[in-house]
Parts: sequence; structure tokens; C-alpha cells
Amino acid sequence: MSYLFSPIQLRSLTLDNRIVYSPMGQYMAEDDGTASDWHLIHLGMMSLSGAGLVFTEAAAVEPRGMHAPHGLALWTDRHEAALKRVIDSCRRYAPAKHAIQLWHVGRKGSVTDPWDGAKFIPPEQGGWPVVAASPVPFQGRTDIPVSPDEDGLDAIEASFVQAAQRAARIGYDVLELHCAHGYLLYSFLSPISNKRNDRWGGDIGGRMSFPLRVFKAVREAWPEDRPMGVRVSATDWFPGGWTVEDATTFARELKALGCDYLTPSSGGSTPEQKIKMGPGYQADFAAAIRAGSGIATMAVGLINDARFAEYLVSTDKCDMVALGRGLVENPRWPWDAAKVLEASVPHPKQYMRGEKPVWRYSSATKR
Ligand SMILES: Cc1cc2nc3c(=O)[nH]c(=O)nc-3n(C[C@H](O)[C@H](O)[C@H](O)COP(=O)(O)O)c2cc1C
Repeated sequence: MSYLFSPIQLRSLTLDNRIVYSPMGQYMAEDDGTASDWHLIHLGMMSLSGAGLVFTEAAAVEPRGMHAPHGLALWTDRHEAALKRVIDSCRRYAPAKHAIQLWHVGRKGSVTDPWDGAKFIPPEQGGWPVVAASPVPFQGRTDIPVSPDEDGLDAIEASFVQAAQRAARIGYDVLELHCAHGYLLYSFLSPISNKRNDRWGGDIGGRMSFPLRVFKAVREAWPEDRPMGVRVSATDWFPGGWTVEDATTFARELKALGCDYLTPSSGGSTPEQKIKMGPGYQADFAAAIRAGSGIATMAVGLINDARFAEYLVSTDKCDMVALGRGLVENPRWPWDAAKVLEASVPHPKQYMRGEKPVWRYSSATKR
């Protein structure tokens, strides 16, 4: 019996297996952030991969929360309708369940698309003002982020809530808040970026308070029977920064507010971070946070070997594994993993000839 290919229950949702396609920014939206046919093709492909859960990339909740010109957005009716078309089409043909990640990119926004170098776009060239916990630019930049006052925080919270309501109407099964990688919500958590001396800064309790407030408001707006999770950096990989112990404390608070799982990622606060990279390099964080808080975890980061993924799930290091680059490189990874682990994965009937030797060599192939 394979643990990786066993179902998992999150509130009223059952996932067929514990393989997740991680959120992966495509930068292929139209100029206003509207999902394009690329999203339909790409998420359609991932929906047929055999992964139990497929993430739509991080979608910005307001204009200042955009990363780059062709990032995905979810704050207008047009954004909502375009994503609904994508997800409805995926569901029509494939059994995968769907998740969306919501983000506000914070002080790392207003840059060109990745293939144009992710370079800062100044306002006179169409750039937009960025927002962060404190008016401290991301290293290497000179533009000072807007540090929101109470009204500004209310507006940001409201934009997350409205995007969550749109995601619910689209019919997403899972909602995830992006609280990692140096983006807006994470800029509150990390002492590297949060220099506030009001109630939203200071000790860990103060620094967690705005992300927890947003989580609570979104959880209340998101249907009660549908699961909701959070992606958090588990360390800044930098002395004096956020640690896995801090992330475990955050996980306990989130769990008490109804968070169903946590995805521990890492880094993103400073380019001076020293990441220890290697296979499953963030899986120990998933294990430590799971053990220390009791929350379910989704391990992510260079988990590209089926037996390693099985080991992580079967030894209670995590409850799910997410693959990003591995699934982009091989969208049939779950089919291949199922062969290795002697498990089965749902195939669309149209593809069964590819799966079953008895069909592959039958006279039907001559048609
Ligand atoms: C091109 C690209 C786009 C990404 N976009 C997102 C994103 O939208 N949200 C997010 O939380 N992580 C994003 N990530 C991080 C991945 O989800 C994943 O955590 C990371 O690539 C490590 O997993 P992997 O080794 O399986 O790729 C992105 C990574 C890449 C390479």
C-alpha cells in the first residue's frame, strides 16, 4: 500500500492522493492580470497529471499587489470570469481538485516579467507604488514602500477577503494565503522587514498579528466546509531573522483560527540569505512544524523522487508533497510514481491506450 497514493480528507474535501502541483507563477496573464488561454492549457495539463490537487499560481488581490506586468490578478469581475472559465474547463475533463493562492507581493513588486530580467519598473515607465510592513526598500532597490496606516491595513484586509469571495464563486476547493518569500504578509512576520513600533510590529506576537488578522477575516469569508491553508517561510536563512521555531508558533495560532494545513517554504527576505539547498531541503521544516503544532503540512522543495516522497508521507514528516519544477518538467510524474510505488492513479479514458499494454498492442491502434 502506498501512503503517497492514499486519499486525504481536509474538511469536506477528499483528495485522491497526496501529490500537489505547487503554485507556479506563469506570467502569462493579459495586461490587466486576466487569465489567458495559457492558463487553460497549462492548468488543463496539470489537471490530467494525476496530482490530487492542482494550484493556480499566486493571484494578486489588488493593483499594488502585482509582481510583474503579466502576473495573475483576482480583483475584478473580468478576472473572476476568466479564471472561472479555466477551472470549469479543467473540471469538465479531469478529476483533480483545484486550489488558488492569494498574495500581495509587497515591496518586491513593480518588476518586469521574469524572462525580461525581473528588473525594477520606475513609476515614469509604468511601475506602481509598492507596500510593505515598514518603509524599508528591498535590498538593491531605492523606492521606499508605503507602510500602511490603520486605514491602509483595513483596505488590504478587505482586498484579500474580496478575492477569497471571488475564488469561492469560481469554485476553488482550497484557498491558500501566501505568507512567505518576503512578500507583503511575510514582511510583517520577519524581523528583517518589520520595523514597526505600533501593535503590528515588535515581538513575534506583534509581527504575527496582521497576517493572523487577514487569515481570520478570509477564513470567515471562505466557505466553512472548504479547506484553507497558508504558505510560510520557515526561516530567513539569515542571522537574526525568522526561524522554524517562530513558524511553529505561527502554525499553532493559525490552527486555532481554523487553518487546515501549512506549507513551509523558506527565504525571500534578503538577498544575503544562505540557503542550504538539496533534495527535500525544506522537508525537515514541514516535519518540525507538524510535530510542534499538530497542523497538517505540505512539504515542498526538490522532492522529485517517488520513493523519497513516499518516505516523507509514510514517516509522518508531512501529509502531502508539492512539486513545482518536477511536475513542469514531467507532467506525468504521478503516473511514473504510481508505477514505482505499485499504486494506481486516475487516467482519463481517452489516454488508457497509453497506459495499458493490452490496449497499446491491440488492433484498435490501427485506426
Ligand atoms: C517559475 C516559478 C514560479 C513560482 N511561483 C510561485 C507562486 O506563485 N507561489 C509560491 O508560493 N511559490 C512559487 N514558486 C515556488 C514553488 O511553488 C516551489 O515552492 C519551489 O519551486 C520549490 O519546489 P520545487 O523544487 O518542486 O520546484 C515558484 C517557483 C518557480 C520556479
